[in-house]
Amino acid sequence: MYRALSKILFLVPPERIHTWVFAFLRAVTAPGPMRRALARWLAPHDPVLESTVFGVRFPGPLGLAAGFDKDGTGLNTWGALGFGYAEIGTVTAAAQPGNPKPRMFRLADDHALLNRMGFNNHGAGELALRLTRHTSEVPIGVNIGKTKVTPVEHAVTDYAESAGLVGPLAAFLVVNVSSPNTPGLRDLQAVASLRPILVAVRAQTTTPVLVKIAPDLSDSDIDEIADLAVELGLDGIVATNTTVSRAGLVTPDVDDLGPGGISGRPVAQRSAEVLRRLYRKVGDRQVLISVGGIDTVDDAWDRITSGASLLQGYTGFVYGGGLWAKHIHDGLAHRLREGGFASLADAVGSANR
Ligand SMILES: Cc1cc2nc3c(=O)[nH]c(=O)nc-3n(C[C@H](O)[C@H](O)[C@H](O)COP(=O)(O)O)c2cc1C
Repeated sequence: MYRALSKILFLVPPERIHTWVFAFLRAVTAPGPMRRALARWLAPHDPVLESTVFGVRFPGPLGLAAGFDKDGTGLNTWGALGFGYAEIGTVTAAAQPGNPKPRMFRLADDHALLNRMGFNNHGAGELALRLTRHTSEVPIGVNIGKTKVTPVEHAVTDYAESAGLVGPLAAFLVVNVSSPNTPGLRDLQAVASLRPILVAVRAQTTTPVLVKIAPDLSDSDIDEIADLAVELGLDGIVATNTTVSRAGLVTPDVDDLGPGGISGRPVAQRSAEVLRRLYRKVGDRQVLISVGGIDTVDDAWDRITSGASLLQGYTGFVYGGGLWAKHIHDGLAHRLREGGFASLADAVGSANR
């Protein structure tokens, strides 16, 4: 049914559909009885899917990836739709409008999206207020980025300000240095720039801190970030963001759409490779969150057994619809039992043993 509905939905420009669908999901999950009924149907209830990671209990490993709910206006929605948690944001220290529209495109033939949103958000202060006033049934992580007008030399202060505002209210914080749509942001992945940012963010909060990296980094850059994360005793690494590569895309005239990051199937292989590389390097010393092109139960299972403790999806949800998270969780529970694993944690990295 979602396939038929999506044919109609996909006739409308992607950002407008995003706004409508998100408003619909919020409305449907606003009344408590509806929310609880949906959660009974869609949320993960199988204890085999539960895990405790950096001290936080997750009812299921699949979360909503950053960028869908930038301002945390759907805090109540994600658990009811079957996600085990959500990563809200990216928020920046100051509110900003993002890039001019159109800035989100559907590449249906590639099962992908192209976006250059540019961190449109209402600011970390407003999100902090929302997090104070509202609760969520599932853990809520917050992703922080650099305000566009803040020069890179002042990036440390900008990230620290956001961390101070939202850190204490989040289940975990993700330092985003990997979006391709803020000029100079990805250069902050260089260890010399990244170190002071991570140190400053951690000084603001006792909440677990992770760093989110790009799939376009070289293998040696990935190794350096992994070493830094271990050295600083960070809590984890989120891999990966969108890719700037256009390699292998079948959508015609994709260059005419302009710059931006590609998500979905085209990023899957590199995202999985980055995960495996990280796991070989850090083992159990860092929590790895895998994101990028997770679409099927096979994808999800492959990431878990390759070393991911948690998963996230954005494009898979857009193409898969409202039952997608349940489908992935049910499939994972089945694989765990079939493989004789007593818990999710036992399966993490099992392909490497
Ligand atoms: C429209 C759109 C907006 C996004 N915005 C953000 C963002 O604000 N911060 C961030 O860290 N990642 C953002 N992402 C990246 C996703 O969180 C994710 O890392 C990426 O899309 C790969 O996962 P996927 O293939 O499941 O979509 C965005 C992705 C899309 C498609």
